Amino acid sequence: MLVEASPNGVIVTDDQGRLVRVNPACSRMLPLVGDPVGRLARDAVLVPEIAALLDPDRDDRPELMIAVGHHELLVRAVSLADRADGGRRGRLALLEDVTKLRRAEQYRSEFVANVSHELRTPATAIAGYAETLLEDRDQLDPHVARMVEVISRNARRLTDLFDDLLYLSRIDAQEGPLPLSAVVVAPVVTECLDKIAAAAATKDLTLQTFGLDGVRVIANREALGHVVGNLVENAVKYSHHGGVITVGARRRGSGWRIEVIDVGIGIEPSQHDRVFERFYRVDKGRSRAAGGTGLGLAIVARLCDKIGAELSLRSQLGSGSVFRVLLPQADDAIAAS
Ligand SMILES: Nc1ncnc2c1ncn2[C@@H]1O[C@H](COP(=O)(O)OP(=O)(O)O)[C@@H](O)[C@H]1O
Ligand SMILES: [Mg+2]
Repeated sequence: MLVEASPNGVIVTDDQGRLVRVNPACSRMLPLVGDPVGRLARDAVLVPEIAALLDPDRDDRPELMIAVGHHELLVRAVSLADRADGGRRGRLALLEDVTKLRRAEQYRSEFVANVSHELRTPATAIAGYAETLLEDRDQLDPHVARMVEVISRNARRLTDLFDDLLYLSRIDAQEGPLPLSAVVVAPVVTECLDKIAAAAATKDLTLQTFGLDGVRVIANREALGHVVGNLVENAVKYSHHGGVITVGARRRGSGWRIEVIDVGIGIEPSQHDRVFERFYRVDKGRSRAAGGTGLGLAIVARLCDKIGAELSLRSQLGSGSVFRVLLPQADDAIAAS
């Protein structure tokens, strides 16, 4: 029988919450009382968090990652029939041992972090010396100066790439959400705009803000800085000469929606999900010419996830973009940072 032979654990309960079926894989993964069949899940399943998923009064489809002994289990539960009469229903829980998968992910992440770290050091040296050479540009043969410029630009690209990769693997390695506190938004935005002011000036861009006074949200200050920083950096890169970049906050329910708005090249709706993937770029040639690593929005998406922010994008090709980050309002009881 398929269920018996399945490498995944299967538990079925009836509408009273009693176990009617437990397959062998489940008995191997999960501490259970002897002869569990016929007993209430809360008595038979010795991991309360998993027993709770089988409560016959529940109607949801939860997913739970939980360490049981030395194993990492992914547990999914569903109800077994439609609740037409509003009554209780049997539940089904599927258990998958994801220990190896998680370990492989961890190795991958550590490997990327180590490689990035090792390669960053020589790249920094090359970038540094190239820049030093360019300080005395007039001493150089123009032909040589142009070559050193190429070396300098590419070495910078490498260090930026390694920085982003290191940062991403650091976020990946961190279990659970980032520490949250009340964050005053205006200074975070000001810092980000200061950092891009020089680049914005070379394209004659106007930078403006709205609605930021007194806005405090629940977030992680460093993470929010990276999010807004990456978004305004993109806004500069993908704006036309003489454009306008606007950063502001609007009330949304009990929270605030922080918006980064540009009137630049825009993004076709079919690309909206893809731009948040690692290394994905809509127009490879153009993006490469504009600099950057292709990791900015992947970092933004990952950080938003880690601080419980909802990220969304509104954009049409040719009519600019609005990146929006929805965060809960911080009430006065929470200390500002
Ligand atoms: N404000 C924007 N306007 C238009 N396109 C954008 C904008 N922000 C991001 N994109 C598109 O999404 C891609 C991914 O962005 P990102 O991850 O920050 O990488 P990049 O290093 O290329 O900026 C970009 O290459 C670009 O094609
Ligand atoms: Mg970017």
